[in-house]
Amino acid sequence: MSSSQWWDERAGLDGTVAVVTGGAGGLGEAITLDLAANGVRVALVDRDEAATERIGAALAADGHDAIAHTGDARDPDVLDVLFDAAAERWGRLDTLVNVVGGTFRAPFSDQTPKAWDALIRTNLTHVLHATSRAIPAMRAGGRGGSIISLTTIEGYRAAPNFAVYSAAKAAVAQFSRTLAVELAPERIRVNCVAPDLAPTPNMIGISGDGDTGQHPMLDPLNVGVSIPMGRLGVPADISNAVVFLASGLSSYLTGTTLHPDGGTFASAGWFNWPGSGYGNMVPPDVLDLMREQS
Ligand SMILES: NC(=O)c1ccc[n+]([C@@H]2O[C@H](COP(=O)([O-])OP(=O)(O)OC[C@H]3O[C@@H](n4cnc5c(N)ncnc54)[C@H](O)[C@@H]3O)[C@@H](O)[C@H]2O)c1
Repeated sequence: MSSSQWWDERAGLDGTVAVVTGGAGGLGEAITLDLAANGVRVALVDRDEAATERIGAALAADGHDAIAHTGDARDPDVLDVLFDAAAERWGRLDTLVNVVGGTFRAPFSDQTPKAWDALIRTNLTHVLHATSRAIPAMRAGGRGGSIISLTTIEGYRAAPNFAVYSAAKAAVAQFSRTLAVELAPERIRVNCVAPDLAPTPNMIGISGDGDTGQHPMLDPLNVGVSIPMGRLGVPADISNAVVFLASGLSSYLTGTTLHPDGGTFASAGWFNWPGSGYGNMVPPDVLDLMREQS
């Protein structure tokens, strides 16, 4: 058996159907294209009209059967239209990927209830709506399924200035863990993927310094200190994990989270300081520099 036959048989993705929310840009684009490259027929919704048209055209040009809708995935009616279109065209659903999510930097005490609501709708409620539509469609097929939600490292540690985002993503992880148990007898698996830094245009906008236009997280010195693998993530690091969770290669994996983050979740506050190596406190030479500058 060749390695590609082994992959195709174990992965079993060819001819399956996936719905991807936020599937036209950022990490969603990589996820859509990588699923399609494995023979998955993708129905996506994205609020970015230009990106949706672009990816729809790219998929068609490559001969992929796909549905690309423009719309707000937080709107249950938009989700209904997408799930109905996928059911009508292909009559099955195997995978749901909840990509939509986002945040902004602000201390909790400066935020209004309106801002909390927006964060919760984007990061939690949209996942509930999309998942509630996926379950009956997967059930009807009787073949099981895979529900995958993008969370974040910030849902598994404290995230100062991102309190509500962090809480909503943690809620998605706990929702997924519980749902995994409820749906296990039907072979519908439920898992999360939690990136740290995999720069996308929107993500850079959130983490960068709005005043100077600088993005400290992209500085190689910062990357070397904060990310054990010594490099930033790229979209493929995340889409690889999603393809694995959609595939039969993860057939016995449910209720858990994959952390494609170069080791930052594992290192949890330990930094690789130049000269002094790993420490979970600021090293003396950096303290001296800070004193000089204060
Ligand atoms: N990029 C990272 O480094 C990173 C790190 C941690 C977690 N995440 C999580 O991964 C997911 C994707 O991140 P990203 O950086 O690709 O984000 P992004 O802002 O680029 O969004 C991905 C796509 O979703 C679309 N989208 C956003 N809101 C939508 C909505 N309401 N309806 C329809 N489409 C919508 C965008 O237009 C975009 O095409 C998010 O859930 C985010 O919280 C990303």
